[in-house]
Amino acid sequence: MKPYRLLYPLRTYLIVAGNGEETNVMAADWVTIVSFRPFMVGVAIAPERYTWGLIKKYREFVISVPSLDMLRDVWIAGTRHGPEKLKEMKITLVPSKALETPSIKEALANVECRLVDERDYGDHTWFVGEVVDSSYRKDAFENDRPNLDAKFLAHTAWTDFVTFEKHVHRPPQVHSR
Ligand SMILES: Cc1cc2nc3c(=O)[nH]c(=O)nc-3n(C[C@H](O)[C@H](O)[C@H](O)COP(=O)(O)O)c2cc1C
Repeated sequence: MKPYRLLYPLRTYLIVAGNGEETNVMAADWVTIVSFRPFMVGVAIAPERYTWGLIKKYREFVISVPSLDMLRDVWIAGTRHGPEKLKEMKITLVPSKALETPSIKEALANVECRLVDERDYGDHTWFVGEVVDSSYRKDAFENDRPNLDAKFLAHTAWTDFVTFEKHVHRPPQVHSR
């Protein structure tokens, strides 16, 4: 058993970096919130990824939230190197609100990040971005919650992906907020 798999299932995201002809998209599981106020996120990206050089160059990136319906494109983003892969993908790139880096129209959400810190840990670089703006599909988020009908994507093993069951479990004597 590979030890890192003990922390799975994890959500899978798309990282958009660069702009114009140099726009690129990669899949990333190793993404997390690191600060609430200001809202900051981190992502671990290996130096051999094309995306790594684009984040270093432009100092911004977008975290896009794909749905299960985007799995074909997620797989291309996660297995091909460099912007050429976009010709095979079906996603539509649209302007972001605050960044030159575009967002993905079909994504459930796009979180726009300006790079504020980077640090190498082992074989990955931990990029931290401050969230400067965001957009989301109104059918995917309601009442400060994800709508699970939108089929949020999670990853269990290299080729294996899942989505969430609709049933919500609450601890005893805790009421919904
Ligand atoms: C589901 C999935 C999750 C991945 N998560 C990460 C990750 O968190 N960090 C990383 O550096 N690579 C990750 N990868 C690998 C990159 O997405 C892959 O190497 C991709 O081809 C890099 O694209 P690029 O060279 O165009 O940037 C993941 C791949 C898949 C399929």
